[in-house]
Amino acid sequence: MRSGRAWQNNHIENGGHGQPTVAAGAAAIEWVASFQENRRSQNVIATEGIRIMKILIVHAHPEAKSFSSALANTAKNAFTAEGHEVVMSDLYRMRFNPVSDRTNFTTVKDPEYYKQQVEEAYASDNDGFAPNIETEIQKLEAADALIFSFPIWWFGMPAILKGWCDRVLVYKRVYGGPLLFENGIGKNSKPGLILMTTGAPENAYNGHGFDPPMEKIMTPIQYGVFWFNGFTPLEPFIAYAPAQASEAERAVVLEKLSGRITGLFDEAPLRLPYLADFPDFGPDSKQRYMVEVQLKGPVDEGFREKIPAEVARLAEHKRDGKLLCFFRHSHEDWRQVRIYLEYRAADGTQLQAFLEELPLYDRLDFRVRELDRTKL
Ligand SMILES: Cc1cc2nc3c(=O)[nH]c(=O)nc-3n(C[C@H](O)[C@H](O)[C@H](O)COP(=O)(O)O)c2cc1C
Repeated sequence: MRSGRAWQNNHIENGGHGQPTVAAGAAAIEWVASFQENRRSQNVIATEGIRIMKILIVHAHPEAKSFSSALANTAKNAFTAEGHEVVMSDLYRMRFNPVSDRTNFTTVKDPEYYKQQVEEAYASDNDGFAPNIETEIQKLEAADALIFSFPIWWFGMPAILKGWCDRVLVYKRVYGGPLLFENGIGKNSKPGLILMTTGAPENAYNGHGFDPPMEKIMTPIQYGVFWFNGFTPLEPFIAYAPAQASEAERAVVLEKLSGRITGLFDEAPLRLPYLADFPDFGPDSKQRYMVEVQLKGPVDEGFREKIPAEVARLAEHKRDGKLLCFFRHSHEDWRQVRIYLEYRAADGTQLQAFLEELPLYDRLDFRVRELDRTKL
């Protein structure tokens, strides 16, 4: 037996106004049953050596036939086929109310002045979250992986998903105090994955297009939501412009997603800075370096052969948080070629070690400058 009973899909109705209903209470009870079932699953792990993961997919698309919904369902099916347990918070089907206000709570700390974090801290201590919010918090707390599935809307997530973040990621119980970044509820080990569709094509977002680079656009989610809460962000899975794609092309994307889900827990996450690197919430204790790179000689066959490995190693350095920025100035004359790398390293010795990892290290000249931390 590979898995226990899959989580029940909890469609918590709140009347669209954040008012808890009987359905929400029933779902919470079902959730507790699911926890007990999961504990039995842990025994399966112990006896058979298979790790069953609990996956929370928070899905935000109003149309069940959309490609975004196809991505969410494909991920769900692929996880289930692996024996994992999936719960999907399908926010539109749940009619999740994104408006964050006093309806988040059954308790009141200060009736005169609404300060959300004060009320969240009080509700955390007094079991004071509205049932529909409590249910979502419990799903989050139980999850071994957190997945956000949505179409990009105005360079971000749809309001319904933002509202889920605003209402469910609560101060004190979910984040704050010791619960931040590598010490957050994601425990610096639970993956966070974005499944996203776009209207614009990939080249709009690759750093040379009419939109900002995708990495920048994803920062509020990757850094501000996942990593802030200790979930380790994975490379987002983005389906660019599915509306322009043929059926066959879309099938290939879904196939690719299934394949990725299969190996998801073996993926190396993006390494974002640890809070420990910023003593007393002050500036980064690591240094920044600008490395200017020149070729030592003309590009021959031996050089060319190593370029793919060089590019792959630079991508690894970027993923691992060592390389922050990369700029290339190409030129027909090898003497004019310049590459600029911004590195983050503890000191010059560590930087040197990073550079020596590059397959083309012997063929390149490096000029290193330590960047000034003070404002100019
Ligand atoms: C309110 C709204 C805002 C949008 N903003 C963007 C945007 O910022 N960037 C973009 O590439 N597409 C944008 N789009 C297009 C959608 O992302 C696109 O239609 C969707 O991802 C296609 O996937 P779907 O068929 O699953 O909906 C927007 C669409 C809507 C309705």
